[in-house]
Amino acid sequence: MRNITFDNITETVTKAYAGTEDERTREIITLLIKRLHDFVREVKLTPQEWEAAMGFLLRAAQASNEQRNEFILLSDLLGVSALVDLLDGKDDAGASITTLMGPFYVPGQPDMEAGADLIKDNDGERILVQGQIRSANGGPLPGAIVEIWQNGPNGLYTVQDPNQPDDNLRCTLHADAEGRYSFSTVKPISYTVPDDGAGGELVRAAGRHCWRPAHIHLMISADGHKRHISQIFNEADPYIDEDAVFGVRSDLAVPFDREPTEAELQRFPNIKRPFNVVNMDFVLAHAE
Ligand SMILES: [Fe+2]
Repeated sequence: MRNITFDNITETVTKAYAGTEDERTREIITLLIKRLHDFVREVKLTPQEWEAAMGFLLRAAQASNEQRNEFILLSDLLGVSALVDLLDGKDDAGASITTLMGPFYVPGQPDMEAGADLIKDNDGERILVQGQIRSANGGPLPGAIVEIWQNGPNGLYTVQDPNQPDDNLRCTLHADAEGRYSFSTVKPISYTVPDDGAGGELVRAAGRHCWRPAHIHLMISADGHKRHISQIFNEADPYIDEDAVFGVRSDLAVPFDREPTEAELQRFPNIKRPFNVVNMDFVLAHAE
């Protein structure tokens, strides 16, 4: 390995990793090296550009801590997170489309039954969110677990905002015997992903923005089925067609302003009036 040249370097480096014990890790590392080397050759990367790239990655690391991972944000902003999710779900015949989990999920939120009230003393427009959880084979999934999280009226998630209770606008909802779920909440609002780190640099360099359209996050679990991660988007949001992290899917963008029917008003006597209704069913793929 003494005579490294422009022509043999890629082969030499991949061979150096050929002994990687885990087969899948070996496959990933080997192809990554080949693609990285091809990229450097194709773009004719200069030493100055390489130094700039290393500085950029260093700033991403410096922006990261226990609560914040700037590399996840970079993956989101470059569409890699969305691609990984789309790849994971593309063969799930009959299942609903999934989307990104994002960085603000916190496990272990309070257990609640269908009809739960998350509004409490949050300001904002009240909505009832409801739907049914079904299996890709068509049947409802009684007892499915729907974990919910969203931002508050100030645009912040609890993990970003010490002034909100830890469980504000979050819960672990248990679907009823017909797989139906429902909860009342306030409309989430559009917000920006953090723009004070490397992710912000990238977005500004491209003349993009950091906004995400308003959405509610859900993670749905049911025995024998794949964990289903989704978001319900307000289709009227001004950023619905330009989500900074490419998370919107057509099936997940729905009206947030439908007025309740008489039957819905009767079924939910405890939700303070007026409120609007959001409908979204989810079909889960079978676990392999
Ligand atoms: Fe979010």
